[in-house]
Amino acid sequence: MTEHLTVVDHPLVQHKLSIMRDKNTPTAVFRQLLREISQLLAYEVTRSLPLTTREIETPMQMMNAPTLDGKKLALVSILRAGNGLLDGVLELIPSARVGFVGLYRDEETLQPVEYYFKVPDGIEDRLVIAVDPMLATGNSSVAAIDRLKAAGAVNIRFLCLLAAPEGIARMKEAHPDVPIVTAAVDEKLNAMGYIVPGLGDAGDRMFGTK
Ligand code: URA
Repeated sequence: MTEHLTVVDHPLVQHKLSIMRDKNTPTAVFRQLLREISQLLAYEVTRSLPLTTREIETPMQMMNAPTLDGKKLALVSILRAGNGLLDGVLELIPSARVGFVGLYRDEETLQPVEYYFKVPDGIEDRLVIAVDPMLATGNSSVAAIDRLKAAGAVNIRFLCLLAAPEGIARMKEAHPDVPIVTAAVDEKLNAMGYIVPGLGDAGDRMFGTK
């Protein structure tokens, strides 16, 4: 991937996202749409995966058929909202390995604090797709990617649903080597660090908490 930012402007993605933004959309529908959208985003974030060939026999003849090259990729969910993107992406890439980075946001400083970290073996040889629906201040995304790099990851992509310009700028400054794929770039952050117009708290919306 060469672009730092890819906005997936596919009509299906935009339509589903609009329903998710609506505050009257119930939790079950929100969750289902997130699952569907995550598959469409996963399609885009894996677009340039390297291929090799494998000799197979079709009912007609032998052929060198394209197959994915290299180690199984690692999906890393940035807890807890990242989990909402996991299932959909795993449906598309069922053999992916899965890791978790647990960060909570200190409500006063808005800075991330780590409480959990577990990633697949051989992370240095895998494409790592870090998933978190909301790229807001970028603080937790940058911290999660700092941590993945410290663990040895060198080939990382970041998949989110919504991004704020502030978060994109922060990621570009801290991790210019990490391409971002998102469904939309919103206007700005508000004083509380929420994306506007946004969709509210993604974790609360998908898990039905408040
Ligand atoms: N996290 C969310 O869930 N929503 C935002 O708008 C910003 C951060």
